[in-house]
Amino acid sequence: MTSRPDNLVIAVDGPAASGKGTVAKALSRHYGLPHMDTGMLYRSVALSLWRFGGDAGNPFEAVRAVDEIGNIDPDDEELRSETVGELASRVSAYPAVRKALLARQQAFAAQPGGAVLDGRDIGTVIAPDAHAKLFVTASAQVRAERRHKEITGRGVDAHFEEVLADIRARDERDAGRAAAPLVPAQDADQLDTSELGVDDAIAAAIDLVEAALVRRS
Ligand code: DC
Repeated sequence: MTSRPDNLVIAVDGPAASGKGTVAKALSRHYGLPHMDTGMLYRSVALSLWRFGGDAGNPFEAVRAVDEIGNIDPDDEELRSETVGELASRVSAYPAVRKALLARQQAFAAQPGGAVLDGRDIGTVIAPDAHAKLFVTASAQVRAERRHKEITGRGVDAHFEEVLADIRARDERDAGRAAAPLVPAQDADQLDTSELGVDDAIAAAIDLVEAALVRRS
C-alpha cells in the first residue's frame, strides 16, 4: 500500500444510485476511516419537515427542520424511501439549508485521522482539499435498474419507467441548482460503474485512491 497521510480524507460524489454509497463504505473499511453519508443529512431534514407537516416550498420551514434532525432515528426505514429522497433533493437546493448543514460535514472531514464522505458536493465544497476525490457515475438506465431492484426487493411495488423518470428528474434538479450543484471537482477521478459489479467497482475505487496518493506524494 502507498504511504498515506495521517489525516486521509476521501471525497466520493455522484448522482443517485451511482454506487457511490457502496464505494464510500468499502473505502472506509479498507482504510479504516469513519464514513459519513451526507445524503442522510438532507434526507433527515426532508423527513422531519414531512413528519411535522412543513411546507417544502418554503425555505424558512426547511431551515427550521434542520434543528429537528437530532430527533430522527438514523435507522428509520422511511429515510430511504423515494418520497423522502425526492423531498431531500428539493430542500437541498435551498442555500440556507446547505449552509445550516455545512459545519457538521466540515468538522467530520477535518477530524483527526481522516474520513470518507459521500454526497454531491464533497470534493467541491465540503472538502476541496481532500487527498482523493472520486466522481462515481453510471448511465441513468443502469441506475434506474439498480434502484428498481432495490425497491422491489424491499417488497414495494414500483414501475421501472417511473423509477427512471424520477432518477432523471433528480439528476436535473441536483445538477441544475445554483447552490453547490452536482458537478465533478476539477481534480476528481471519474469512475463509471455502469458495466462493473460491486467487487470490481470497489477494486477500481481503491486503485484510483492509491493513484491519487502517489500523485500527491
Ligand atoms: O444521495 P442521496 O440520494 O441520499 O441524497 C438525497 C438528496 O440530498 C440528493 O438528491 C441531493 C441531496 N444531497 C446534496 O444536495 N448534497 C449532498 N452532499 C448529499 C445529498
